[in-house]
Amino acid sequence: MESYEQLSRRVARAIADQIRLKPNTCLGLPTGHTPLLTYKILANWSHGGEEDLDRDAPPIDWSGVLCFALDEYHDVQPKNSFQAFIEEHLFDQTNLPLPNRLNPGQSDDYDELIASCGGLDLTVLGIGGNGHIAFNEPGTALASWTHCTWLAESTRVANQEAFVSLDNVPVTGVTMGLQTIFASRRVILMASGEKKRSIVERAFNGEISADVPASYLQNHGLVDVWTDFGFEKSFAAQSAQE
Ligand code: PGA
Repeated sequence: MESYEQLSRRVARAIADQIRLKPNTCLGLPTGHTPLLTYKILANWSHGGEEDLDRDAPPIDWSGVLCFALDEYHDVQPKNSFQAFIEEHLFDQTNLPLPNRLNPGQSDDYDELIASCGGLDLTVLGIGGNGHIAFNEPGTALASWTHCTWLAESTRVANQEAFVSLDNVPVTGVTMGLQTIFASRRVILMASGEKKRSIVERAFNGEISADVPASYLQNHGLVDVWTDFGFEKSFAAQSAQE
């Protein structure tokens, strides 16, 4: 069974490999507790500290990469925004140009923007305790593209740490929709900690249902579910396997 550190290295390596393969790659990237170590490792590799990559591997070059945040709060103080989080933990540790740091809160047509950049090559997701991916809360339509949404109460509670009190946690946000995520060529969903086990098993061993938005990923053509509690599963379309 992988540790949190091994899981984080695996995801970081997938992102680094993707950037090496395609220097102008489009990434969909999450915020939250789960990717924190992944971002720390990527930051380290971006400075040249690649002790477990090939000895001769140069630092990751983010100069041509486009990073699309999955979601963002409405009416949030800048310091509590997801954009601030990902700037601090990843972007500012790399040479990712400022114009390449994209956020659905700053775009009138995020899906058009993503498409005009060539589409998402790799999207990394966490999963909420209620089965949400990005801010696609239970009940979200499979046909959804980027949209504004109410946040589930459990999502607000899970995210309240960064705020003084639950009352300060925004009640709405903007998120990539399920179709936005489905349009990504590859998806990696990462989950850490026993508290995520039951929802991960429900999403990926259970029925596909709007009650558990992550379960829709079972029908995506190229998805890896990686965890640090012994659950691992991949879903691939027939054509992707051939
Ligand atoms: P977490 O959030 O990484 O903080 O658990 C995941 C999510 O809500 O998607």
